[in-house]
Amino acid sequence: MAEYFIGLISGTSMDGIDTALVAFDDTGAHCVATHGHPIPPMLTGGLRHLADPEHTASVDELGSLDVALGEVMAEAVLTLLEDQHLDPSHIVALGSHGQTVRHRPGAAPPFSLQIGCPHHLAECTGLTVVADFRRRDMAAGGEGAPLVPGFHRAMLHSDAEDRVILNLGGIANITVLPADKGTPLQGFDTGPANALMDAWIRHEKGHPWDSEGAWAASGELDNSLLASMLEDPYFIQPPPKSTGTEYFNLQWIERQLQMANRHIPARNTQRTLAELTVASASDAILKHAPTTQRVLVCGGGAHNRAVMAGLGHRLVNATVESTEAVGLSPDWIEAMAFAWLARETLAGRPGNVPSVTGARKAVVLGSIHPGGVG
Ligand SMILES: Nc1ncnc2c1ncn2[C@@H]1O[C@H](COP(=O)(O)OP(=O)(O)OP(=O)(O)O)[C@@H](O)[C@H]1O
Ligand SMILES: [Mg+2]
Repeated sequence: MAEYFIGLISGTSMDGIDTALVAFDDTGAHCVATHGHPIPPMLTGGLRHLADPEHTASVDELGSLDVALGEVMAEAVLTLLEDQHLDPSHIVALGSHGQTVRHRPGAAPPFSLQIGCPHHLAECTGLTVVADFRRRDMAAGGEGAPLVPGFHRAMLHSDAEDRVILNLGGIANITVLPADKGTPLQGFDTGPANALMDAWIRHEKGHPWDSEGAWAASGELDNSLLASMLEDPYFIQPPPKSTGTEYFNLQWIERQLQMANRHIPARNTQRTLAELTVASASDAILKHAPTTQRVLVCGGGAHNRAVMAGLGHRLVNATVESTEAVGLSPDWIEAMAFAWLARETLAGRPGNVPSVTGARKAVVLGSIHPGGVG
């Protein structure tokens, strides 16, 4: 008999709340249904403000946004259940990543903060909620990120070829999956994916993102700007490492443009930002996984043609394609991963991978908020 879990995430891009209903049976995990829920614009505005390190948001803002987002997340889950004619009693648990509003693995002490009140989620949905996955890994000395490599290994490992899973969300992260399972799992954030391209097009044109990468494709690559961007210390820092929009953001782009100190057409900057994602991810793959035969791309960036074409050009010895090619929609893998992580937690199994996050040991992740419809 299959066991049903729901995974939920609102990623760094804040493009919406992703929910996935996942069935676990003897053959593995299967995505049964999905629902993408919009975040009301007022709430997105508040969240962006909270996540912007240049603003000093108050504790009051943090407290109320946490609850408001928890309520919208509950709506997202209830809509998924309704669409599928399911009752909460059919679901073992909900794994909620929440919304990252700050990720500071390099601070003293390091911390990471995800919001979307799990208590409200449990109360409004009646589901047992597993949440706050990152902080236990950090308490064990890890980066708290990335947490998806264990799931990538469970779903996408092949005995026949060396693979890399490249997730292009707001930030890009890779999971290295050699055919030989004997080697320790590697994975880390390679740098920005959509975060900078989104920030630039929002600033210049007021669009939420560069659909299909069309604006980037209309510009010319500025090689000297790209070279200067690639000198950012994050790209040469050895793993374990993770980053976020508190580092790669509009201010980062503006600093780069100031350093260039010449007129660069906005579309050329967009083209160069797309190439920055491509170059930093490709360099990481060539350096840490040189024998890679197939790169499977997931996350919203898999829809960006400029980025996908660029990866194909740089990774000439590998096939670069969307995870769709192996039957997994690139848009729902992250949400599925948090259903999987919730299941690991309830089974008392560790969800982090110390060789990835740098934690001293494998730990059971998250906090458990019992459901119960009353
Ligand atoms: N059709 C498209 N063309 C170009 N880019 C797209 C398209 N669809 C989505 N995207 C990009 O993908 C982004 C969303 O991707 P995704 O949901 O994987 O990221 P995320 O929510 O930030 O997650 P993560 O936690 O992995 O960082 C959008 O902000 C946009 O930049
Ligand atoms: Mg998203």
